[in-house]
Amino acid sequence: MLLSANNVIDKDRQCGVLELGTNGLQRFPMECIKALKHPVVVRRICEKEQMRDLEIFHDLKREAADWRRYLHQNPELGYRLENTARFVAEKLASFGINHIETGIAETGIVALIHGQGGDGPTIGLRADMDALPILEASNKPWSSTIPGKMHGCGHDGHTAMLLGAAKYLASTRNFKGAVALIFQPAEEDGRGGERMVQEGIMDRFGISQVFGMHNEPGLDVGTFAICNGPVMAALGEFDIVVKGRGGHAAEPHRSVDPIVIAAQIILGLQTLVSRQTDPLKSLVVSVTKLRAGEAYNVIPETVELAGTVRALAPSLRESAEKQIHAAAQGIARGFGGDIELNYRCLEPLTVNSTAETNLAIKAARALVGSDAVNDKFPPAMGSEDFSYMLEARPGSYIYLGNGQTAAVHNPEYDFNDEAMPYGIAYWVNLVETVLAVD
Ligand code: NI
Repeated sequence: MLLSANNVIDKDRQCGVLELGTNGLQRFPMECIKALKHPVVVRRICEKEQMRDLEIFHDLKREAADWRRYLHQNPELGYRLENTARFVAEKLASFGINHIETGIAETGIVALIHGQGGDGPTIGLRADMDALPILEASNKPWSSTIPGKMHGCGHDGHTAMLLGAAKYLASTRNFKGAVALIFQPAEEDGRGGERMVQEGIMDRFGISQVFGMHNEPGLDVGTFAICNGPVMAALGEFDIVVKGRGGHAAEPHRSVDPIVIAAQIILGLQTLVSRQTDPLKSLVVSVTKLRAGEAYNVIPETVELAGTVRALAPSLRESAEKQIHAAAQGIARGFGGDIELNYRCLEPLTVNSTAETNLAIKAARALVGSDAVNDKFPPAMGSEDFSYMLEARPGSYIYLGNGQTAAVHNPEYDFNDEAMPYGIAYWVNLVETVLAVD
């Protein structure tokens, strides 16, 4: 018995590990432990025994997977989510939830469920509902029925999981205060999250903390990942018009060629990151559009460039505007041309706050154990309009393992229904953790 216990080696500490259940000390008397040759770390595993039973969520999964597949077959874009919103509102009403507000930010919904545990704060749980303009190639039986539109980011799964949690919470109500279920439109392209905040949902529903969840391909099903602090980048976009002087392609000396200037600007902008930014800070500048000329023998008057800036600090995004302007203008003027720059700051940094992130970690660990929750997940350079809700209220955004599937925004992507019970159970556990009855 001792030998088998001592076989568990903690490599970091170079010692044996004795794993104990709640009654472990009775099974392994202290004198036996002392007799071990190696130093021993006693690791209690009673946490596992207190973990929430996921079985009930597996039952709910079958139902939620049906909802998810219906939404997947009927994707809608941006704010035009009439059918999706109707479906969500009908389901919420069928769970016995009587406070449902529709038409927020056009097709957004907020529904309130009051707990049975008395007075307490109201926390917001947010799911996004919109699809993407992609032609689906997943070949799943529940593929999109609308060519050119698909749920390529799993928002069908996010919506179904929050509905699953709503059904459970509305029937048990084992919490104090209230839960505000936030179903938002236009996450992908339209800043639906910002509009819901502008339309006053935080004050109107008395929301004090807000939580989000996104599936993550590449993370195993049954695992979660999260980090404290910045989790997604701030987003900027730019358009540059390079102005030259058009002419005959056979007589370049009589013109100012904006194509050659644009080529230098594209390369020059790459030095913003490599030469002007602290190597320990994170900034991305990508030129993603280039439009120039119509003919083989004509040097055009202008060239249009456009691209994106991602930064893990607001100051970097703002300084990028000045640096892009200085580099592009300097290069263009050096060759006799000029530029016009239009720079826009869009989504802010998505920042997880410490107290709420700790609550999220606690809720996830109680489901799947400590080893299945990575609490040091590195931030990503994508952006997320949940950032507007996190600017308005403290909160946290967690990733749910989607397994080894195609990446989000890929035509072959599909939300993994096996992840669904974990997502539903996370929402429920989070509510019962943050709003625990005294
Ligand atoms: Ni998404």
